[in-house]
Amino acid sequence: MKQVVLTGIKPTGTPHLGNYFGVIRDAIKMSENEEFDNYYFIADYHALNSLKTKEDMKFYFKELACTWLACGLDPKKVVFYRQSRIAEDQELCWILMNVTPKGLMDRAHAYKACVDANKAMGKDEDDGVNMGLYNYPILMAADILLFNSKFVPVGQDQKQHVEMARDIAKYFNKKYGYTLVVPQEKIKESVATIEGLDGRKMSKSYGNQIPLFCEESKLKKLIMSIKTDSTLPTEPKSTDCTVFKFFKLFASEEKLAEMEKKFAEGISWADAKKELFETANQFLKPMRDKYNYYMENFDEVIKMLEEGEKVAKKVAKETILRVRKVIGVED
Ligand code: ADP
Ligand code: TRP
Repeated sequence: MKQVVLTGIKPTGTPHLGNYFGVIRDAIKMSENEEFDNYYFIADYHALNSLKTKEDMKFYFKELACTWLACGLDPKKVVFYRQSRIAEDQELCWILMNVTPKGLMDRAHAYKACVDANKAMGKDEDDGVNMGLYNYPILMAADILLFNSKFVPVGQDQKQHVEMARDIAKYFNKKYGYTLVVPQEKIKESVATIEGLDGRKMSKSYGNQIPLFCEESKLKKLIMSIKTDSTLPTEPKSTDCTVFKFFKLFASEEKLAEMEKKFAEGISWADAKKELFETANQFLKPMRDKYNYYMENFDEVIKMLEEGEKVAKKVAKETILRVRKVIGVED
């Protein structure tokens, strides 16, 4: 039996460089390794909580599906599917709720952040908190456990959720005997948290992101807007800055060494940013072209998802049957 690698992204906004370098790139690399079975999905039910309209759901789903393919997901190697098409996920979620202590959910970062913000503003603790937010980690545990996942590639901010999935699997196995594979997160330390334009974590929530496939002119504009210090053009510059950190993501070793030298000798921020733009654009262009193709030929993408969903359904059914038997609702 091969080990299963599974990850999902929720369609809540236009995919950005943080998503790519933080999780997508390594997930794609893992799918090229014959040792693994890979399941990559669009977590549309996880997005429900933050989306305001059905148009947003449709649009961000489309962008995210095209992004996975543009970044190199090969549907022959990866089971590629929509979370909402696998009803067994919801069934498992309910079952898992019954072994999940409420206290575990009380400690979840996303929920706690909401409560803390409410408290700070003198509001009721649970103001604006719905059960989708509260139970988010249990659905995520179901996503993971349904496919017998061993490794879950994610960015640093999802570590706690995967740990919770691991705890929930253990609670279940303790009560019913070993049934569910106990998963572990896979976080690449060097890119665990990609910085945004302002030096904080790149995130849709901070509005400091560089969209992965924005047009060339927008990419240039965003790169030129990166915050820098006030060192003069001829003065040496520290490589501990956003411009250099971005450069590191896109450049080859040689190019990086050249840039390091220029930083030590003194290069103007404008020139450094121009070089960063050229390098980033060269890196992103082939993927951007593919992305635009899929956006225009989306029916092809839907067909690929439907094929993946057939395979995902089959595996999901096997797990659910096994689970139903151990809990005593099926012989
Ligand atoms: P956002 O913070 O923009 O809402 P998501 O929560 O949708 O992003 O993240 C999707 C995936 O991308 C997750 O696995 C997450 O850990 C990863 N990710 C998001 N932002 C970053 C970042 N700045 N650095 C590294 N990984 C990230
Ligand atoms: N919570 C993840 C995020 O915000 C998305 C997600 C949902 C996920 N289910 C998952 C990630 C299962 C890994 C495995 O990015």
